[in-house]
Amino acid sequence: MRIKSFLLISAFILASGLSVAQTETNQTIETIFNRSSVRSYSDKQVEKDQIMTLLRAGMSAPSAVNKQPWAFVVIDDKALMEKIGEELKNAAMIKKASCAIVVCGDLKLALDGVAQEYWIQDCSAATENILLAAHSMGLGAVWCGIYPGKERIEKLSNLLSLPENIIPLNIIPIGVRDKEQEPKDKWKEDRIHWNKW
Ligand SMILES: Cc1cc2nc3c(=O)[nH]c(=O)nc-3n(C[C@H](O)[C@H](O)[C@H](O)COP(=O)(O)O)c2cc1C
Repeated sequence: MRIKSFLLISAFILASGLSVAQTETNQTIETIFNRSSVRSYSDKQVEKDQIMTLLRAGMSAPSAVNKQPWAFVVIDDKALMEKIGEELKNAAMIKKASCAIVVCGDLKLALDGVAQEYWIQDCSAATENILLAAHSMGLGAVWCGIYPGKERIEKLSNLLSLPENIIPLNIIPIGVRDKEQEPKDKWKEDRIHWNKW
């Protein structure tokens, strides 16, 4: 009976042109499709265990040669958040957030030579994991770029007393979502090339 139902559902999905991944039963795909940058938050605070889950999500990212050349600075000091928001206008929403995570590359942990730059991709993968995890947990977050802006790196490094080998890639203000946001439709078929350009 179970096999019969499975075959029936599979036949329906195939006939409707949907892949299994596109159905609403796949929460990961749902999260990816529905995430969007959130820049305003409710007054509720993000709990410590939620922050730890976000950090675990970040550290679950893939990285070149599994170097994991990242470090995370969690910010929940409101006075510091106010200061950061004043100094870094592109991250002004941090003033209203509950906390923030700064995703950093640790050059001492990175690969040597030209491969050193993989830290940027590795930390970007960690960042996207954090953003997706935040969305799935009913939180709102936004990637605010720091690297490669020299002035932004300098300002944030000073405010957080970062050592020389630690480069901030971005700052992610995080809060509890105060409303649902319609994700942007970014689907562009003309960006896809099969086998050759
Ligand atoms: C590398 C990078 C840097 C970004 N920097 C900022 C920023 O400084 N401030 C900001 O408000 N949003 C920033 N964003 C968020 C983008 O504006 C946002 O992702 C884009 O508009 C698409 O919207 P969505 O995230 O809602 O899909 C940045 C995103 C990326 C990937």
